[in-house]
Amino acid sequence: MKQEVSTIFSTITDVPTDAIFGINDLFLNDSRREKVNLTVGIFIEEDGKSAQILPSVRLAEEEILRTSETKNYLPIDGDLEYIQATKELIFGKKDLSRIYGAQTIGGTSALRILADFVRREISKTIYISDPTWENHENIFRRANFNIQKYSYPDHVYEQLEKIPDHSVVLLHAMCHNPTGKDLSFKDWEKLEIVFKQKQLIPFFDSAYQGFGKGIEEDAFAMRHFLEKGHECFVAHSYSKSFSLYGERVGALFVVMKNDLLVDRMKRNIRSLIRTNYSNPPRHGAHIVKLILQTPKLRFMWEKEIEFARKRMQISRKIFSEKIQKAIPKNKFSFSSEGNGFFALLGLTDEQSNRLRIEFGIYLAPRARVNLTALTTKNIDYVVESIAKVL
Ligand code: LMR
Repeated sequence: MKQEVSTIFSTITDVPTDAIFGINDLFLNDSRREKVNLTVGIFIEEDGKSAQILPSVRLAEEEILRTSETKNYLPIDGDLEYIQATKELIFGKKDLSRIYGAQTIGGTSALRILADFVRREISKTIYISDPTWENHENIFRRANFNIQKYSYPDHVYEQLEKIPDHSVVLLHAMCHNPTGKDLSFKDWEKLEIVFKQKQLIPFFDSAYQGFGKGIEEDAFAMRHFLEKGHECFVAHSYSKSFSLYGERVGALFVVMKNDLLVDRMKRNIRSLIRTNYSNPPRHGAHIVKLILQTPKLRFMWEKEIEFARKRMQISRKIFSEKIQKAIPKNKFSFSSEGNGFFALLGLTDEQSNRLRIEFGIYLAPRARVNLTALTTKNIDYVVESIAKVL
């Protein structure tokens, strides 16, 4: 029997397990053979293999292995060429001198570093979409924000027209997570006008560039706000677009009115990074830089991302057709419209729990599915099981 000992930890706060990775852990501990994991947003191939190394990444790594001579520290805000290449990927090739950029540890640390900066210097309140990626709320809460919500995807402008002037608003630049529903180019243009009138401050989360309509098309919102002269923030992730999940490759950008304050911004962001993780890791950013800068590798990567995008679109369509066939419309409907990895099934928590407990089918919170996790092997089982829990 364990003895009760006095410990300084007996009063530590009990915090909930992570909403997405927590369910993933439950999946890993499930011993049923028929189990299906539709939780975390990682790319899954038709044969069920997940987060595979892209051929372009493999070639870049071989080149890095052959030519690298040092593992020295990078500058506090990362590899300059990587940042420039990322800036151009997001904003296009033009004069970008009024944008400050830094390399980060995936998109999450870009969000957190920017959150700390915004909270200290700009605003104590942030507006986030409801629903949004589960971790958004945690990140901004940890950074001591007062969090307000606007419902999504309907009536976005009507709601933002009513919030206080100068508010900071978190926007998903593409492939909204979890709904998969994006604003059209026309919608973004309309929204930009609301932002201009009310001097709202856009904070873009850009985690899926290339999986919506295309690499260039998915940058539309950020480029449009740049062209219209807005100041804004961007947190960018390469986890999905280069299948570099565990390498933690990301970047943050601060778009300013002109380049006069870029150096002061740099010192601010550098001091936040230095006191957090000192400086970012080399390897993943080196891979991305090499691919973006080398025409042959870049061409390969663009094809790879196109292939992944199509797989998502096809999976969404087939899933929707199978649902329509198997389940009467008045009981359950699933829209074949949407972008990227995710869709919401619109099931209740009770129905999701039944899918998990009775059928070994694991969904992320709010009955979100990773569409690439649906394969020819499991899709019929998933559809039949949904029909059973309805
Ligand atoms: C997801 O939403 O599943 C991904 O962004 C992975 C994560 O970090 O939650």
